[in-house]
Amino acid sequence: MATAAAHRPARADGTAADATAYEAVFDAAVAADERIEPRDWMPDAYRATLVRQIAQHAHSEIIGMQPEANWITRAPSLRRKAILMAKVQDEAGHGLYLYGAAETLGTSRDELLDKLHTGRQKYSSIFNYPTLTWADVGAIGWLVDGAAITNQVPLCRCSYGPYARAMVRICKEESFHQRQGYELLLALSRGTPEQHAMAQDAVNRWWWPSLMMFGPPDDESAHSAQSMAWKIKRHSNDELRQRFVDICVPQAQSLGLTLPDPDLKWNEERGHHDFGPIDWTEFWEVLKGNGPCNEQRLTQRKQAHEEGAWVREAAAAYAAKHNGGTGAQHA
Ligand SMILES: [Fe+2]
Ligand SMILES: [Fe+2]
Repeated sequence: MATAAAHRPARADGTAADATAYEAVFDAAVAADERIEPRDWMPDAYRATLVRQIAQHAHSEIIGMQPEANWITRAPSLRRKAILMAKVQDEAGHGLYLYGAAETLGTSRDELLDKLHTGRQKYSSIFNYPTLTWADVGAIGWLVDGAAITNQVPLCRCSYGPYARAMVRICKEESFHQRQGYELLLALSRGTPEQHAMAQDAVNRWWWPSLMMFGPPDDESAHSAQSMAWKIKRHSNDELRQRFVDICVPQAQSLGLTLPDPDLKWNEERGHHDFGPIDWTEFWEVLKGNGPCNEQRLTQRKQAHEEGAWVREAAAAYAAKHNGGTGAQHA
């Protein structure tokens, strides 16, 4: 089959006629489910949407290291400590793939980090909640990584090639994260009454913020319709949220834990679980910066960035030396 990609021009030279022709090629490629690659022409708004989404995703990966890293020194066994360290490192790696994907769109990692540090770009609101007990590590793995997978599996088919390919690798690792969280909670749930209560308390606190991770309801989601038309997103926020609830209900039963929603019940007619109203006021407040840990997360991030300056300088100097002065790309 002849594909749109075969006729795809490398670059537009800026004339109006070119822009129309290139847009038609872009539209055809998206319609044919082909991947858009970095050197292909793409609408400015498509590029800007991807940069915003990939940056927010990358920021979430690295900020998300903090609530769990909080428990590394206090993990209850060497096995749990090794697992948690590996997981937190994986999240750093996810950030790296994603900043790399954003760079293919012509934006530097420096620029994105600067926007994060000055509050001009966001990260997922879920990471502004505190990790109060060891069971929170399990609840995050099961629910937060679980919600992330539900969101991210369809992104493996995103129309932008580098993002889609990064997601394939990330989703494989997220599956491990979800399983380790489930296994940790299962061990606590089957442990002493105190351990069971600790697991239940963690699930009670993380359940609703996890449902908020899918973003506002479809009728209030500013970018959803356009992102779906461009095949960046494949499913709406509400669809993905429903899918997540349906997955979690039987898993909670197997864990011997309950989900903190009195309205949660199977709806035979819809073939899905009904669930209670989400407190969107809380969501918008946390997003605005008024969550329990917003300030702490950003302060710690900026401090880590400053303390890492000498590593970046050394890496740049090393690269320059070994590439004859042409290799230093990242500050
Ligand atoms: Fe991740
Ligand atoms: Fe993860």
